[in-house]
Amino acid sequence: KFEGLAETPPLGWNSWNTFATDINEELVKGIADKFIELGLKDAGYEYIVLDDGWMAKERDENGNLIADPIKFPSGMKALADYIHAKGLKFGLYNCAGSKTCAGYPGSRGFEYQDARSYASWDVDYLKYDWCNTEKLKAEGAYITMRDALKAAGRPVVFSICEWGDNEPWKWAKDVGHAWRVTGDIINCWDCEVGHGSWSSWGVWKIINMRKNIRKYAGPGHWNDFDMMEVGNGMTDAEDRSHFAMWSMLSSPLIMGNDLRSATKETIKTLTNKEVIAINQDKLGIQGFRFSNEDNFEIWLKPLESNAWAMTFVNMSDETQSLDFDWVKYNIGDDVNGKQMDVKNNTYKIRDLFNQKNLGNTSNKLNAEIGSHDVLMIKLSRL
Ligand code: DGJ
Repeated sequence: KFEGLAETPPLGWNSWNTFATDINEELVKGIADKFIELGLKDAGYEYIVLDDGWMAKERDENGNLIADPIKFPSGMKALADYIHAKGLKFGLYNCAGSKTCAGYPGSRGFEYQDARSYASWDVDYLKYDWCNTEKLKAEGAYITMRDALKAAGRPVVFSICEWGDNEPWKWAKDVGHAWRVTGDIINCWDCEVGHGSWSSWGVWKIINMRKNIRKYAGPGHWNDFDMMEVGNGMTDAEDRSHFAMWSMLSSPLIMGNDLRSATKETIKTLTNKEVIAINQDKLGIQGFRFSNEDNFEIWLKPLESNAWAMTFVNMSDETQSLDFDWVKYNIGDDVNGKQMDVKNNTYKIRDLFNQKNLGNTSNKLNAEIGSHDVLMIKLSRL
């Protein structure tokens, strides 16, 4: 794969969660404009990725992929140019199988040819799906596409999307820059919609399914907890918790909402630079659950300079009071050997959503946290 890309989790937007295959060039340009207008680019968001449905239903007579002429009359190069002119990057989707999940031409047997098309359009990011892959082996199929991208020569972030079925965290470190860890997300707190392998998963279902693979993530190779549902119908509190958790998990932060109609509160959450900085921390250590007693999920993530991020999510339907006594706990990361010694060190506390200082760890941490809301703090050595 191309080394040196996605050294921190990719930040961007993808069309699927809101628009499915109902996409077109005016929409995408509008989204790019919003990246600038709403301060999303300033906050670090970079990639604009078209998911399934951007292609014509058939390849051309030479077997080349072509953009749907009705949805994208100016073609993909023109769209890439528009996006690049704004200082942003451009991503496309395809699939390892004979057809994409929505029935458009897949890359199976056309990997090198498709990679050359992407390079000729100046594509910077490829999401590569896993429908219609009868008898293909995932590792081999993703390696083929990786090699094809390499051969085409233009640096591309390669985002693996086989839903965690073949445990890509065990083999994809040198294949892609991120890999999906589950089936599709859906815009709810903790639901499962559908059946078996066709289920879609709420935020906490996804987190709970894959909490034991953190050691596989790191700079250039991330566990992808799926595109975000912030702004897609959960409460503002739930959106904050979702965003906080994706940051704690070092997941790619790929927005999935309609930025053109997003509320102020949604944009405030998505552009919170102090929370994004936790996701983008240079160490690239994925966070872990510290405890989940008394209806609080408590998560930790080691950061640069001996700092830590800590997140308290109120899982109950009522407001709860947090009363956290630092000296009662040994706080450490057994995978990475990092210890937060609150008996011998004092840490100052920064509330990242409210962007204010909360004293230090020589006192107990007290807070009122609303139902499904979050207190996210950064602890730095005094
Ligand atoms: C399945 C993927 O998991 C989704 O994120 C999306 O890309 C759809 N396929 C598109 O058909």
